[in-house]
Amino acid sequence: MTVGIIGGGQLGRMMALAGYPLGLDFLFLDRSNDTPAAAVAPTLVGEFTDRRLLRELARRSEVLTFDWENISLESVQALGRRTRVAPPLAALAMSQDRISEKKLFEKLGIPTTRYAAVDSAAALSRALRRVGLPGVLKTRRLGYDGKGQAVVRSAEEAAAAWSRLGGVPLIYEEFVPFDYEVSIIGARSRHGEVAIYPLNRNLHRDGILRLTLAPWSAPTLQRAAARHLRRVLEHFRYEGVLNIEFFVHRGRLLANETAPRVHNSGHWTIEGAATSQFENHLRAILGLPLGATRARGHAAMINLIGEMPRASSGSAIANCIGTTTARLRGRSASLGTSRCWVKPPANETPRRGDCSPRSIRPACASGVRGRASPYRRPSDPRRAGWVAPRQPARSGLPCHRSQCHRRASGHCRPCSPSSARPVHCR
Ligand SMILES: Nc1ncnc2c1ncn2[C@@H]1O[C@H](COP(=O)(O)OP(=O)(O)O)[C@@H](O)[C@H]1O
Ligand SMILES: [Mg+2]
Repeated sequence: MTVGIIGGGQLGRMMALAGYPLGLDFLFLDRSNDTPAAAVAPTLVGEFTDRRLLRELARRSEVLTFDWENISLESVQALGRRTRVAPPLAALAMSQDRISEKKLFEKLGIPTTRYAAVDSAAALSRALRRVGLPGVLKTRRLGYDGKGQAVVRSAEEAAAAWSRLGGVPLIYEEFVPFDYEVSIIGARSRHGEVAIYPLNRNLHRDGILRLTLAPWSAPTLQRAAARHLRRVLEHFRYEGVLNIEFFVHRGRLLANETAPRVHNSGHWTIEGAATSQFENHLRAILGLPLGATRARGHAAMINLIGEMPRASSGSAIANCIGTTTARLRGRSASLGTSRCWVKPPANETPRRGDCSPRSIRPACASGVRGRASPYRRPSDPRRAGWVAPRQPARSGLPCHRSQCHRRASGHCRPCSPSSARPVHCR
């Protein structure tokens, strides 16, 4: 049985790797044959809007799915009803527009940020009056990893952000001074079975996910997040895995956004949960029974963009998850984004350690130094088996505070290479 996947990025690759033990085959569609997934499965090469290739993908597959949400909705819709696509296209359409997403949250009684649609300079002035300052101006469509966003603290900054981002439909949201961020991932199968993972606590920097700690033990938040997730799953009679990101503000959840697909904050489930999100996504869309979602220990995922981890990452994360030792485990794949999982030894009971940003920041520091390269060939020898690459001379770490107010003015000092901890904004 073949599963057709639109998009051959790292998430698609992980799906295929999770599906081979189930006896499944995979066929991808992507713009290039030089993708993470192309190393593990055949790929049809062409535009995501190429109707001929989409038809071929559909003809050769039992079901179509996707590994990112910015694929062409119209082109997939044009395949007609006889092609089975999961997750449902209605969920895909909702997630492609931040306003539809917010409206859905409101309709389902899921608390979210205050917002206003902005499509003109006059609408922006109205939005500033209605929502207030500070706020975040974002493109409604095609944003990811914090791209197409600007934090706005004054009318002048709003005007500057408008001239940078205006021209496409925007959304203006209140800026939430959150305590921290969490996400929840769950699957609903074709037969209506639902399985929900424990909460992930996420640390973003510059809009990019840098670190996930899971399971994040916060029973009240877990119950609330699972309730919200279930509402979205049932609303769409969903098939597959869905993720919701939340801000935790004054002990309450505020939904930020949702992704109708497997999610980066769920990488830890490969080794850290009884069944990975990738396997459960496939089970869900094929109507197989869902696997258990319980955590097998405490795990952390560090997003190391374009570079291997430094040895010190292990001890910083070990401290963070409250164990004395930790082993860096990982996949050195063909990806610009490397990830590693840390699990405490089996005989050690994990407890929640010091997860303050000060403690986790050094662990993530290596994640910002590397070159961000979206796709890297698997044949790159440095990527085989965690052989540390030769480190380039370091001229200091950049500022780690994503919303640093002194950054733009140049007063935010980079860290000295010898300092144990990043120094900024002092
Ligand atoms: N309204 C907001 N208030 C505070 N921080 C925000 C807000 N919106 C986004 N952010 C920060 O930027 C990150 C990326 O924004 P998000 O809306 O999730 O867009 P993306 O689609 O790029 O992930 C968030 O995880 C959060 O850290
Ligand atoms: Mg996000």
